[in-house]
Amino acid sequence: MSEADLTSVMAIEERIYSHPWSRMIFSDCLDTGYDCRIYETEQEIMAYSVMSSAVGEAHLLNLAVHPLHQGKGLGRFVLRSVILQAREKADTLFLEVRASNQIARQLYESEGFNEIGQRFDYYPAENGREDALVFARPLL
Ligand SMILES: CC(C)(COP(=O)(O)OP(=O)(O)OC[C@H]1O[C@@H](n2cnc3c(N)ncnc32)[C@H](O)[C@@H]1OP(=O)(O)O)[C@@H](O)C(=O)NCCC(=O)NCCS
Repeated sequence: MSEADLTSVMAIEERIYSHPWSRMIFSDCLDTGYDCRIYETEQEIMAYSVMSSAVGEAHLLNLAVHPLHQGKGLGRFVLRSVILQAREKADTLFLEVRASNQIARQLYESEGFNEIGQRFDYYPAENGREDALVFARPLL
């Protein structure tokens, strides 16, 4: 992912999340040197991921598939790619997910992530706040 991709990335981000990241957050991730990747054809960006890593820990900060391409195995493909990226830098891959996001939860559980905690009222939601579930996956 580069700065030039952010208009397309933001178009996806704003369609799939009730509370999307801002363009500034993506810019900051790029500037900080996080592992920000797009998965694209010649025509369009189909998916993207953002991962940070430091002192043996990697964090998956964003994983998204274009709405027209969801449910076809691309999310699992991208997640497996992230796990391979993380394995080069860390012992454990962490992530947070909205408690209501059943699709993502199923995906993470089926790829070896375990729920290790909960952050109460972590996310803004339609009617107040929503808990985050914290997942971790050993990378050995
Ligand atoms: C979550 C997301 C990345 C999954 O990507 P995807 O390409 O749609 O998912 P896949 O086709 O690879 O499916 C992976 C698993 O997700 C679950 N899943 C996918 N679509 C589903 C649906 N419509 N209903 C229920 N479960 C579903 C299944 O467990 C599926 O495994 P299976 O095919 O063996 O049954 C994607 O839906 C997305 O971008 N959602 C919006 C953003 C988001 O929530 N990101 C995660 C933030 S933590």
